[in-house]
Amino acid sequence: MSNKKTVVTQEQIAHQYEYMQFIAKMTGEKAQAYGHPLRAFTQTFGCQQNEADTQQIAGMLEEMGYEPVDRAEDADVIVINTCAIREHAESRALGNVGALSHLKKARPDVTICLCGCMVQQEHIPEKIKKSYPQVDLVFGTHALWRFPELLYRSLTGDKRIFDTTGDAAGYIAEGLPVLRDGGTKAWLSIMYGCNNFCTYCIVPYVRGRERSRASADIVKELEALIADGYKDITLLGQNVNSYGKDLDEQIDFSDLLEKLNAVPGTFLLRFMTSHPKDASHKLFDTMARCDKVAKQLHLPFQSGSDTILRRMNRGYTAEHYRELITYARSKMPDITLSSDIIVGFPGETEQDFEQTRQLVAEIGFDMLFTFLYSKRSGTPAAKMEDDTPHEVKQARFERLLKTQDECVQVRQDAYAGKHVRVLVDGHSKGKEYPLTARTEGGLLVCCAGNNLEIGNFAEVVIEKTSLRCLFGRSV
Ligand code: 5AD
Ligand code: SF4
Repeated sequence: MSNKKTVVTQEQIAHQYEYMQFIAKMTGEKAQAYGHPLRAFTQTFGCQQNEADTQQIAGMLEEMGYEPVDRAEDADVIVINTCAIREHAESRALGNVGALSHLKKARPDVTICLCGCMVQQEHIPEKIKKSYPQVDLVFGTHALWRFPELLYRSLTGDKRIFDTTGDAAGYIAEGLPVLRDGGTKAWLSIMYGCNNFCTYCIVPYVRGRERSRASADIVKELEALIADGYKDITLLGQNVNSYGKDLDEQIDFSDLLEKLNAVPGTFLLRFMTSHPKDASHKLFDTMARCDKVAKQLHLPFQSGSDTILRRMNRGYTAEHYRELITYARSKMPDITLSSDIIVGFPGETEQDFEQTRQLVAEIGFDMLFTFLYSKRSGTPAAKMEDDTPHEVKQARFERLLKTQDECVQVRQDAYAGKHVRVLVDGHSKGKEYPLTARTEGGLLVCCAGNNLEIGNFAEVVIEKTSLRCLFGRSV
């Protein structure tokens, strides 16, 4: 196994385009016979990275002549892009695949594909071979760029294909098509994989090592997005603060932000996820200086207890985290903050948990993503002793949510009467405030008033607030 990433050559990509053309010819002929185009259904579990991957799969499917549909029953090809981060995500994906067995019996010609993080785990292919005979094609995260070739083999007679091999050092493939949804928001991957090996986390095992895209390719993609009318762009990576470390060019994440900020146009740049171990003062200085970079930071701290942080292999202390937030707020007083927290890590005591809860109360996050610890086989934490009963973990989880709701209410209320710049992005369910928008910090605003148009920035005054939403009128 090599420890150097593989940059997929343009010749290899061209080869995939040939497969796309072979399939497009086949689907074209069938479409003539059926009187309608062939159809594809995609479904995504998990994070934004996975959503971005699905958009690439959808782009390839479109190139191969498939029209997207909303229901699996109407599709000729079904692709389920799975997640492995918690057991819940896995059981939902497997439940959905299980439910497709009737469809496969009724229409044996439908092609069912399973891909993504879950199938990249060692024990999963065997499980699918044995218990899910309806699945035709299984491909892991490393084989994503070879989807056209794999689908071609599946369509032309190969029985059940399993391709979950691939070098953990990982791949970078440029030039594959992407099908985005055409709204105001777009994902833009800047790097893939993770080197951190937090002891609870499966990601490094299923997504391989950190690897960055060349900055020129990212700039080119951003320019194309702006030209297509996207205005709210989120840069994606498991740990964006490591951007550039594996590149020959001398560039770090702050430099990249600066470069992207200089691209002409009216747009907002967001990014996720940052790691407190690598988030630097330079990053916060750059964010503060760059006018197109949203003053928003997602900085997961996972636990407020140094003992637990050490056992999680996180590489920082609660004090370091506090210091980072203080610095970020000193540079950007209105910054919107969010975090991820795991409740019930093996051996978490009442005192450890209380430290987490206190940090939440002290910092006052605008958004919090709270998870109950889920044991992932193959990770170091899976072997740690865990004697806290589930009910105790559940009770802690609920206490944390309560603390967070109290903080959010205070932060939401503080917006009353304020003028904020928002990007209008859709229709709301309510009549009084018929449109939805996002603040620069990513908070939801239902709004009303003249001169509001989806896809445009506007200034609104906040008239009232609730726990989940601000309500504003254009000024
Ligand atoms: N159990 C619970 N939550 C987890 N996360 C990652 N691994 C696990 C796990 N095994 C959470 C972390 C991470 C977020 C994306 O998911 O909080 O930041
Ligand atoms: Fe995303 Fe991690 Fe889930 Fe994969 S395992 S989809 S990287 S959250």
